[in-house]
Amino acid sequence: MNQLIRLLIIALAFVSCQKKSSKSDYIEQRVEEILSKMSLQEKVGQTSLRGTSSRVKGDLSEDLKNAVRNGEIGVFLNVMNPKYVDELQRIAIEESPNGIPLIFARDIIHGYKTIFPIPLGMAASWNAEVAETSARVSAIEAAESGIRWTFSPMLDIARDARWGRIAESPGEDPYLASVLATAFIKGYQGDSLNSENSMIACAKHFLAYGAAEGGRDYNTTIVNEELLRNVYLPPFKAAFDAGAQTVMSSFNDINGVPASGNKFILKKILRDEYNFDGFVVSDWNSVTEMIPHGYAKDDKHAAERAITAGLDMEMTSTSYEDYLLALMDEGKVTEEQLNDFVRNILRVKLRMGLFENPYREKVDASKWYAQSHLEAAKEAAIKSTVLLKNNKTLPLNKNQRIALIGPLADAPVDQLGTWTFDGDGNYSLTPKQAFAENKSKFVFAEGLKYSRDKSSAGFKKAIAAAEKSDVIVFIGGEEAILSGEAHSRADISLPGAQEQLIDALHKTGKPLVLVIMAGRPIALGNIMDKVDAIVMAWHPGTMAGPALYDILNGKAQPEGRLPVTWPKQGAQCPIYYNHPNTGRPASADSFVGINDIPVGAWQSSLGNNSHYLDLGFEPHFPFGYGLNYGEIEYEKTIVSSNKLRRNETIQVSCTLHNKGNYPITETVQLYIQDVVGDIVRPVKELKGFKKIRIAKGESVSAEFTISTKDLEYVDSSMNYVVEDGDFNVWIAPNSADGIKASFELIE
Ligand code: BGC
Repeated sequence: MNQLIRLLIIALAFVSCQKKSSKSDYIEQRVEEILSKMSLQEKVGQTSLRGTSSRVKGDLSEDLKNAVRNGEIGVFLNVMNPKYVDELQRIAIEESPNGIPLIFARDIIHGYKTIFPIPLGMAASWNAEVAETSARVSAIEAAESGIRWTFSPMLDIARDARWGRIAESPGEDPYLASVLATAFIKGYQGDSLNSENSMIACAKHFLAYGAAEGGRDYNTTIVNEELLRNVYLPPFKAAFDAGAQTVMSSFNDINGVPASGNKFILKKILRDEYNFDGFVVSDWNSVTEMIPHGYAKDDKHAAERAITAGLDMEMTSTSYEDYLLALMDEGKVTEEQLNDFVRNILRVKLRMGLFENPYREKVDASKWYAQSHLEAAKEAAIKSTVLLKNNKTLPLNKNQRIALIGPLADAPVDQLGTWTFDGDGNYSLTPKQAFAENKSKFVFAEGLKYSRDKSSAGFKKAIAAAEKSDVIVFIGGEEAILSGEAHSRADISLPGAQEQLIDALHKTGKPLVLVIMAGRPIALGNIMDKVDAIVMAWHPGTMAGPALYDILNGKAQPEGRLPVTWPKQGAQCPIYYNHPNTGRPASADSFVGINDIPVGAWQSSLGNNSHYLDLGFEPHFPFGYGLNYGEIEYEKTIVSSNKLRRNETIQVSCTLHNKGNYPITETVQLYIQDVVGDIVRPVKELKGFKKIRIAKGESVSAEFTISTKDLEYVDSSMNYVVEDGDFNVWIAPNSADGIKASFELIE
């Protein structure tokens, strides 16, 4: 090779390497370059997200095409025809003033075509790998339709089972939610943001949306700053650390200020403290909803509030589009504020590689419902299933004749759960289908047509089926529509006549297995004693049938653990394990029930503590709870030292014995309590967990390392502190069990 060519190759390699290593500088330069050429109109256009509710229905209208041509739109939501995706993109690239590509977004919440368990179910897997895979599969399938931005994961801590959106949440615990947040972001965004099957993620809803008063959706939240920082923020922080590119401001007001106009969360926390450099999108119309909130007098004022708070992009309402320039003329907002929004948006578009690779071009539909995706969905459904009760009824044995009953035993659409616009029920495998495919000896009688069905017309057939069988499997719960956005319930028991049917089935004297498919914990008080086993399947998705078949027949072990406390009734909510103690903590020793109070008793508070006279204080099942087939015994918690010095660590361990007949994957949980704090501290906090495989008859030691970082929290001065003093620690199968050990943190 001639010397000159060789030198040229080396020089080119050097330049390309430089380019790679200074990628972010390169992106920043491009951002500034593009920004400098943009008109004000075009800048405003980048902040606008159009939804189907505005102009993308039916064929593409000339108006819409012209809006793209003029650079008036930055992002589309819900354009579901890949042909339109490319056509709109082509207009943006070739005909708009600066050729800035569009992003196409959609709510891909727990799967695109192949549907995974609802997010609360995924949380019940306590399994980052399963969560990451579900998000990866979602991205691969959705990107095929040109969708490169999903409004997921939802990271709202949820402590109230009445709230419909608990179904979409990662549960009640900030540690578990943070682990899942990281996994979801990695899965959606993949190894590289500019890969054509990467979807940028959106951490939502910022902030404290799950603290809605009374579990009523969209409601006011009153959350002090310590609680915001100790409980509601950690999953978001984890998402940003994992590289989440966008965040959605929530519908609710937080301590009186709606999230979309909330400078404290959008500026101070997000930008100043977390150095977030992606962009913030409002929730659907949440900018102009600041008017009914009573925080803005009209659209223009709402735009001013949101701009001042630092909200980059407005979803569906058009107050930026309509008033931003006027506000600038009036000196109420500045061009530099608008420039910052555009910078944040362009930066993400550049990172996504949209300028180089904007089109979908060819849709490979074979990726949808691919065999490997269906297998991953089945695996996730198995791992999410929680066994709540088992009087030696499960697993079923092969020779048993089964009566398969219930409104959700063959409900291909409802088993998919909330937020599944693209999942097709025709691809679902229901439990009934799975029992048939596996040639189980079973008779099917639905008993009730749907979960809210109040008619007893089908009872007779169901009872007759039960009488002819050895065991009854009743699959009921809630239709998909009973949870999710705006679908809160005050009474969270089984709807319709399901309890009556269960009662009638119980009277046949046959062993009765209750399988629940639902978007939330269900109040079981009226039926708990009438069933022999309870399996919580959440809404398990496309592969509900095969997953449940394997679990019920012992081909797979139930590994799921509750990601939320399971209340006895809606009236007990909010209820969560990591609550502070009161001065009069509830306890079994002091509990006085309503029927224990003598008639004419002298009025006194003595003897009573923080509980309900008629409902007690304990939930049905604690956070972290779940049974195995078989039995695991935990010995006491052992600490390697009862003194922990700062910058040192101690080991905490516990020996576990598998006393049953099956190999078990146990979810071993580590809880810590800071006994005395600058502010009152929770009675327990999850600080770690591990999945440990224990063979039949085997004993293993589970070990965790504790460092001072695990003891950190935000105190009353909003500082992250670790305070000297006493700590309790448990290695436990759930948040209510385990044998306590203690140590002291010293200088
Ligand atoms: C929901 C969001 C969702 C958005 C777009 C809103 O109603 O609160 O979670 O991403 O709609 O569909």
